[in-house]
Amino acid sequence: MSNTIELKQVNKIYESKAIFKKGKPAHILKDVTLEIREGETLGLVGESGSGKTTTTRMILHQEPVTSGEIYYYGKNLSEMTKEEEKEYHRNVQVVFQNPFSSLDPSMKIEDILAEPLVIAGKYSKAEIKEKVKKILSRVGLADDYRKRYPKEFSGGQRQRIAIARALIDDPKLLILDEPVSALDVSVRGQVMNLLKSLQEANRTSYLFISHDMASVAFLSTRIAVMYFGRIVEYADTETLLSGYRHPYTALLMKSNDVVNLDEDGYEGEEIDPPSHINPPTGCPFAARCPYATDRCRSEEPTLAEVSEGHKVACFRQDEIDLKKAKGGLVKEKAPEYMI
Ligand SMILES: Nc1ncnc2c1ncn2[C@@H]1O[C@H](COP(=O)(O)OP(=O)(O)O)[C@@H](O)[C@H]1O
Ligand SMILES: [Mg+2]
Repeated sequence: MSNTIELKQVNKIYESKAIFKKGKPAHILKDVTLEIREGETLGLVGESGSGKTTTTRMILHQEPVTSGEIYYYGKNLSEMTKEEEKEYHRNVQVVFQNPFSSLDPSMKIEDILAEPLVIAGKYSKAEIKEKVKKILSRVGLADDYRKRYPKEFSGGQRQRIAIARALIDDPKLLILDEPVSALDVSVRGQVMNLLKSLQEANRTSYLFISHDMASVAFLSTRIAVMYFGRIVEYADTETLLSGYRHPYTALLMKSNDVVNLDEDGYEGEEIDPPSHINPPTGCPFAARCPYATDRCRSEEPTLAEVSEGHKVACFRQDEIDLKKAKGGLVKEKAPEYMI
């Protein structure tokens, strides 16, 4: 199976800016290695500030990586010609969290949707009209919405329009960076289901990003768990949900009330994530981890394979029992739309 996108040991360091008072560089992504296989949904989950949107920006080639490589179907992004780069941007689309800032308020919906096709410059007016019609129906919006402006729509409808715009020219990859986080809970499920059915119909590769483990689990084929700019656990969804080995994954499960870990007495989430200005030595999760030892506080674990396709960055992954009950718990406590 080919990889739509592959990140190899990607690091992103921001040199000092005003917000970093002492002028120290901030190491935001550290050795991030992951792949998005053709037709799958890779979930990227981690709390706010963990580096998810920075990963999006690296893949979108909006900024250069500090070190490491990103490949699109085997082609290194940094070695693309202008023509290849243009093709890349046509094929890699994104939907961001905020549906209120992502649509130009002065444009009619039909023009917003048609814009990527006009820019691509290879479709006739009639073809564009047809594609706009088709995509509106595919995202569940009435045809006469074409003539209206973004301000006439709710958050959920705007996000449907943003999804329609991203998909109108059949991209290879759709990056969904917290696409439902800003929406009312009542419409989140609808948008999630729409994304799922579109993916099943088109086989577009997705990178689905969220801080919410339940929604990531709902949509993803495989899941990468990110903490402080590192991938700390990586596995197919079933393996991750039933056999997660990293204490941070356990915390994410717990904070989403997906799995009840109380029996294991898991506490420790009250401590804030580490600072980029004063990064800790050792495992960055150690200060929040009830299982941390002296070794964890002095040495940083690397991501290592614990079974086929399952990687964990934790020294104690085979010693600690993160939960008594394995498997089958997710659906019981999942949000409504997952059931
Ligand atoms: N341009 C920048 N310069 C310095 N630090 C940045 C910059 N952009 C993001 N960061 C920092 O990188 C970290 C990760 O941010 P981000 O990727 O947006 O996280 P997430 O999307 O997971 O919430 C945060 O601590 C943020 O403050
Ligand atoms: Mg973000």
